[in-house]
Formats: sequence, structure tokens, C-alpha cells
Amino acid sequence: MPKVTYTSAAGGVSVLEGSAGDSVMEIAVRNGLPGIVADCGGSLACSTCHVFVREEDLEGLASMGELEDEMLDGTAEERRPNSRLSCQLKLEEGDHLYVETPESQV
Ligand code: FES
Repeated sequence: MPKVTYTSAAGGVSVLEGSAGDSVMEIAVRNGLPGIVADCGGSLACSTCHVFVREEDLEGLASMGELEDEMLDGTAEERRPNSRLSCQLKLEEGDHLYVETPESQV
């Protein structure tokens, strides 16, 4: 089962499991994780699923599309080089991704 470790801006850690094909956003929302709002449900229209991906995990991710890149310019907390929209991060069997959620999504 793919796993995601979410660390909040305050330092709280949650390790959640999902299924292959789930996104980092879907696993968070299904489990009621505070810190990811995902207003648009994953259609790249809200930027409220912003996360910071652990540096060493960045290379293994699917590359960022143009629209995701544009949407990251409108996040509540300023984007960083390791910013991604978690609805675009799909997990495969055996993945374990580490992300930090920003202090604010709206
Ligand atoms: S959930 Fe809206 S852009 Fe990701």
C-alpha cells in the first residue's frame, strides 16, 4: 500500500495509507487531515492542496504540468522550489512520500 507522511507547519506528523492510483490530496481528504483543503476536488482550479515535498522525493515524481506551475503562483503561502499541488501527485504501490503542509491554504 502506498503511504504518505504529512508533517504540519506546527510539526504534527500523520502517516496515512492509500491505494495505488490515489493522489496525496485524496488520501489526506479521505482521512480528514487538516492542512489540505482541496476545494476543487482535484481539477487544478483552487491551489488549496499545496504541499512542500521532501527534497529527496522530488526526483521520483511525475514532472509538473504547465497548469500546475501556473496555479502554484496563486497559493496562500508563497511557493518554494519543492512546492507541488498534492492532487497531481499520484502514488504507486510501495511508494512512501513525505510532504509538509503549509500553515495556510486560503
Ligand atoms: S485540489 Fe484544487 S488544485 Fe488540487
